[in-house]
Amino acid sequence: MEKQQHDTILVLDFGAQYSQLIARRIREQQVYSQIVPYTISAEEVAKIAPKGLVFSGGPASVRKEGSPRPDASLFELGIPILGICYGLQVLSVMNGGTVERPKQKEYGFAHLGINKKESVLLKDLSPNSQVWMSHGDSVHTLPAHFECTGSTENCTYAVVEYPDKQWYGVQFHPEVVHSVEGGRLLANFVVDICKAVPDWSMGSFVETQVAEIRRIVGDKQVLCGLSGGVDSSVAAALIHKAIGDQLVCVFVNNGLLRKGEADLVLSVFRDNFNIRLQYADARQQFLTALKGVTEPEQKRKIIGKVFIDVFEQEARAAGEIDFLAQGTLYPDVIESISPSGGPSVTIKSHHNVGGLPEDLRFTLLEPLRELFKDEVRLLGKELGLPDEVVFRHPFPGPGLGVRCIGEVTEQRLDTLRDVDAIFIEEIRNAGLYGDIWQALACLLPVKSVGVQGDERTYEEVCSLRAVTSEDAMTADWFRFPPEVLQRASARICNEVPGVNRVLYDITSKPPGTIEWE
Ligand code: XMP
Repeated sequence: MEKQQHDTILVLDFGAQYSQLIARRIREQQVYSQIVPYTISAEEVAKIAPKGLVFSGGPASVRKEGSPRPDASLFELGIPILGICYGLQVLSVMNGGTVERPKQKEYGFAHLGINKKESVLLKDLSPNSQVWMSHGDSVHTLPAHFECTGSTENCTYAVVEYPDKQWYGVQFHPEVVHSVEGGRLLANFVVDICKAVPDWSMGSFVETQVAEIRRIVGDKQVLCGLSGGVDSSVAAALIHKAIGDQLVCVFVNNGLLRKGEADLVLSVFRDNFNIRLQYADARQQFLTALKGVTEPEQKRKIIGKVFIDVFEQEARAAGEIDFLAQGTLYPDVIESISPSGGPSVTIKSHHNVGGLPEDLRFTLLEPLRELFKDEVRLLGKELGLPDEVVFRHPFPGPGLGVRCIGEVTEQRLDTLRDVDAIFIEEIRNAGLYGDIWQALACLLPVKSVGVQGDERTYEEVCSLRAVTSEDAMTADWFRFPPEVLQRASARICNEVPGVNRVLYDITSKPPGTIEWE
């Protein structure tokens, strides 16, 4: 990692579920922040020359042997440090304090009493500010020179500091939204204590990434699978800005796309951005492979396999390629602390074009690895992508293949595409698209009796689903105003031949998943 042009705060990751949020909250203060494994050496840190270090929380207990410890030489660098939760405990024990496990773990809201008005870290925080606690251990005795500047009812050492060294620690989590003034506290640390200049923006991210991509890629060629989704679209636009025609995009039409999707991708990327785009119309190949298949996992496997076959062919046609670009985001990178003590990184398999043959194993280029979805959207806007691409709902790789329940045929796909298009259009017309995480329609493998005009019908049934969610791990069904569902249902039955019944799915996740298959 190179020294950044902008002031940087490094977040040392001790494996907490919230550690990625810390970096993101700091970026919200217009200061660049990046996560690094807690094992980073002091020399490496000195090379990067950050303005400050944050030690994140983590699931381990400092009282246990072998629990993660940062390089002790970090304390010699003269760089301000903020320890959060486990990070505070590490900071304490490595400097002579002790940590114990009180009888009760503390989890949930607390109110922070400020013991010292002059504390720079707590500047402008309200008395009794609400904070969020989640810990088993807490500091029992403070190291020499440290003072306690904030406490809650159950935690004496909720805020501790050693201002001469610029070392600070908080037991609560300022990065989560439940800590109402957590952003203020982080800003105090980053701007007032670390003296980082808040001049970073998505525009600066583009600048540094463009330079970095040029440096990594040199005069080599990059291949990028474009799905039309936000992540791959933003990755392609960013890489294209950096290296222009050294980027080749491959767009596979698997026939399982939404109505108008292929045209949109072609017009945005080929016509507007002028990106070298190989369009593979593989609709027939997918349909043939899916013929007669109804079992969901088998469908997914077949779709994945045909995708690899088509992608491989396109990759070979693209000529001499060294890098494969992917729109992997931070939440896709599951960071965990391996038993050996070093952090390991695994990438969710469906985000990876895994399964490519040996001679087509490229070096991965993942310029969005540090970002969250909403940051990627900001970046997409910065790069000039249309809102229709930047703000679209997630769409699964196997597409309508897993929404066409039962056999996938061309006719059923066309029916589903029409149903889906009406549903999405009605959501947009009602101004609700942005309030919904994801909306989808499924075609069910059942028929039902109806009456249309004077005639008895016996036709297909579709279900509509719309959910709210933060991260797709859990989801709740969206409460539509009834007239929106009524309009969608009426239009679907009137306008889509072969469908005479519409259901709305009111299952949350869990127990349901977002997709039906
Ligand atoms: P589930 O159905 O598991 O979905 O609740 C969670 C989120 O993941 C999306 N999804 C996929 N995305 N390839 C993808 O790229 C897939 O195979 C896949 N399966 C599910 C789903 O749409 C939802 O946003």
